[in-house]
Amino acid sequence: MKRMIVSTTTGLALALALTISLTPATVSAEGASSLRGDLALPEVKSPPQVFKLKLDQDKFERNFKTQPPLVPHKVAKYRVNLKVNRCLKCHDKANYKEEESPMAGKSHYMDASGKETAKLNMKRYFCMQCHVPQTDAKPLVANTFKGTK
Ligand code: HEC
Ligand code: HEC
Repeated sequence: MKRMIVSTTTGLALALALTISLTPATVSAEGASSLRGDLALPEVKSPPQVFKLKLDQDKFERNFKTQPPLVPHKVAKYRVNLKVNRCLKCHDKANYKEEESPMAGKSHYMDASGKETAKLNMKRYFCMQCHVPQTDAKPLVANTFKGTK
């Protein structure tokens, strides 16, 4: 009986020591903070600013020849998943004329050997991988980028 009590206490002490040694040290990186800011976990951050979409032009100027053009209209309600692709309802080769929309890029209707195809190349299925709208947000970091002519 006595022996058992001793072993239990030793076990507890060991477990405690383990817990302490496994607790991660608080990481402090000077000058760096997460997007939440330096807030303790229970604190709630005020909601982020909502930026306005830039919708005032017909088309955005492209900065270089192979740039995927920016989207000049709202996209929030257009679903793209395995079953539907709302973007294609207007931009597909088969129906862009009736929809009075620009046809998706020619390169989107080419197979691997560069031959023209009637159907969209599935590598281009997820439009928003490359085409995004613009907001009136200021750049997070100043830069001197200039587009080519
Ligand atoms: C209801 C029809 C419609 C739908 C749906 C639609 N678009 Fe458009 N899109 C247009 C029209 C029309 C234009 C031409 C500019 C304008 O009138 O806004 C355009 C312009 C664009 C342009 C600019 C082309 C250029 O040459 O500058 C891109 C890129 C684009 N859309 C991408 C998308 C993507 C991505 C989606 C899906 C998330 C989508 N569109 C859904 C009708 C549509
Ligand atoms: C892998 C990137 C990529 C994906 C995915 C993609 N595009 Fe594009 N898109 C481009 C690039 C790059 C251009 C400009 C060069 C070109 O025409 O290929 C372009 C051009 C366009 C244009 C303008 C065509 C013109 O003649 O001015 C439209 C409209 C467009 N894409 C719509 C779409 C739609 C709709 C989808 C989804 C079905 C889509 N794109 C998917 C990269 C992409």
